Amino acid sequence: MTEGKTLFERIGGMNAINASVDIFYKKVLGDESIKHFFTNTDIEKQTGKQKAFLAYAFGAPMAYTGKNMKDAHAHMNLTEAHFNAVAGHLVATLKELNVEQDLIDEVVVIAMSTKNAILGSKSE
Ligand code: HEM
Repeated sequence: MTEGKTLFERIGGMNAINASVDIFYKKVLGDESIKHFFTNTDIEKQTGKQKAFLAYAFGAPMAYTGKNMKDAHAHMNLTEAHFNAVAGHLVATLKELNVEQDLIDEVVVIAMSTKNAILGSKSE
């Protein structure tokens, strides 16, 4: 019976988020097209922030106290290609962890909902 459960619960809770984000940043930092954005980043802290954000975005009953996606990525001049690379690493991570495709589809919808804010679209 999964009816009414948040994506956070259905995907496996904090353990699943923790495992995903750890693998995700290994992929991001191994990607020549985007790793330069993280040169001055404390990856341990960033990993913690990303875990908190994803838990919140997937419906965990917890407050997110970090920056909003627009402020967090302002002035980075991110392009659609950068965004797609990061989103692709997220999906690849979830596939690697054998997350069901319908749950991955839900994650993609949530990830795409942040795109305009992250790319600094005028419409946001
Ligand atoms: C679905 C897409 C994305 C999500 C959900 C996301 C999420 C986040 C979060 C939660 C933070 C921390 C905000 C804070 O400081 O409170 C952050 C910061 C950051 N993000 Fe993203 N992000 C995404 C896409 C991207 C992309 C495409 C890039 C570049 C290729 C990127 C590069 C960064 C960098 C460099 C920081 C700052 C790290 C620092 O403080 O040193 N992000 N992001």
